[in-house]
Parts: sequence; structure tokens; C-alpha cells
Amino acid sequence: MIKVVSLALAVSFVTANIEIKVHDCGSVDARINSIRVMQCEREPCIVHKGQDYTVLVNFTATRTVQEAHNHLHGGLGFLQVPFPLNPENACGKNVPCPIEAGKTYLYNNTMTCPDFAPSLRVAAKWEIKDENQKDIFCFATALQIVS
Ligand SMILES: *[C@@H]1O[C@H](CO)[C@@H](O)[C@H](O)[C@H]1NC(C)=O
Ligand SMILES: *[C@@H]1O[C@H](CO)[C@@H](O)[C@H](O)[C@H]1NC(C)=O
Repeated sequence: MIKVVSLALAVSFVTANIEIKVHDCGSVDARINSIRVMQCEREPCIVHKGQDYTVLVNFTATRTVQEAHNHLHGGLGFLQVPFPLNPENACGKNVPCPIEAGKTYLYNNTMTCPDFAPSLRVAAKWEIKDENQKDIFCFATALQIVS
């Protein structure tokens, strides 16, 4: 019985993920349908330094764009600190390009929380920008960064 319970716990840990609330922060070229974060069980997501997190954004394009660029900022009070995402170019790896108006896509990005990140609660602002520096989509979510 204990074995069964601990196996169930192990499985639920591996597959834990939630659909987070969509806080749109200025999507121009798309409408966000849903956002799922793997290895997150509740909001705010607890993010461990050095660990990988996968973010899946289901969105429908309202305009056709040729390029997609990853931009992530962490808000600490009034400061907006950039967290470089690698690669910066989202085309091919995170989403197919061009992105065509009317089609629904699943943006898939796995990032590692950097060791230099502060152990704080931060307001993350995740933007995917087009070739004109306009947001294809933008969403905000709180993250609790821990060691
Ligand atoms: C995206 O969401 C729509 C509507 O909720 C759903 O029908 C579709 O299957 C989803 N697409 C992907 C790729 O997850
Ligand atoms: C997201 O990308 C990762 C790494 O390429 C892959 O293992 C995973 O299956 C993808 N998830 C979805 C839902 O497409």
C-alpha cells in the first residue's frame, strides 16, 4: 500500500503542471487561449535555481508575422530586469515561422532558472516580439524563486 502511494506521488510530481491564469500584458498580433507551466502545481509557481521549466502557450494569431523573438523581464518593485532567454530567436525552436493569421499555435519553451536569480517573488513579464518590435503576445505571472 505504501509502495503504491509513493509511486503515485512520484508520478504526480513528474507530471505536475497547471494552467495559469492569463494576465495579458499587451498582445498585439495574437490572442492567448491558455498557458500551461510544467513542474508548477499552483500560482505563484515555485521556481528552483538550476531547474528546467517548460512553458506552453496556446495562442491564435490575429496577424501574420515573419519573426518571433523571446523577451523575459523580472519585475522587482519598479525595476524591470531582463532575463536573457537562449536562443533569443523563437522561430523554429519554440514556434514555427512565419506565424499566420487565423492559425492556432503552441509556443513551447523550456528555460533553466539561472543561479544568479534573486531568491524573491518576481513579477515575470514574458513577451514574444515580431519583426516590428510589437508583441505577438505578452503575459505576466508571479514567480517565487527559491534556491
Ligand atoms: C489550443 O486551444 C484550443 C482551444 O482551447 C484547442 O482546441 C487546441 O487543441 C489547442 N491546441 C494545441 C496545439 O494545444
Ligand atoms: C515541448 O518541447 C520539449 C522539448 O523539445 C518536448 O520534449 C515536449 O514534448 C514539447 N511539449 C509539447 C506539449 O509539445
